[in-house]
Amino acid sequence: MSIPMRSYQWDELTDEQRAVVEIAKEQTKHSYCPYSHFHVGAAAKLANGVVIRGCNQENAAYPSGLCAERSALFAAGAQYPDQPVTMLAIACYTDGHFTKEPGSPCGACRQVMLETEHRYGGKMEVLLYGDNETYVFDSAADLLPLIFVSENLKG
Ligand code: THU
Repeated sequence: MSIPMRSYQWDELTDEQRAVVEIAKEQTKHSYCPYSHFHVGAAAKLANGVVIRGCNQENAAYPSGLCAERSALFAAGAQYPDQPVTMLAIACYTDGHFTKEPGSPCGACRQVMLETEHRYGGKMEVLLYGDNETYVFDSAADLLPLIFVSENLKG
């Protein structure tokens, strides 16, 4: 099974993609990560054009923290429950610079990204920023084959 991922240089991205990635990069500054020192920023663009910002939020009780992607997607669902998410960008910053290679969403975030697509019945373009290249996926589903979704609960 191959993953339909494309790699782009910064100047090959569209203006819209670059704008959303820039917000994800900016958001790394607001990450609360006193334990990992790994700053992750996320930006979720909605169908109405609004961009919801997220970043990782850590906690001394480690599992209580939350990743950047889910913080953005849950904020979007809370503030704009009727708006599909059309694009999600993430960027990672550590040791004084953005990571050279794109950051990769954890399994739990992929599951939430996928449920967000199913919830609104449309695809969410996913942009993973790295200083060397940016990965682009047409759909969150491309990041999680053999998915578990609500239909599976029906047996
Ligand atoms: N993190 C994210 O925000 N997104 C991911 O997809 C991977 C990991 C955060 C969680 C934790 O605060 C830090 O990065 C180190 O794992």
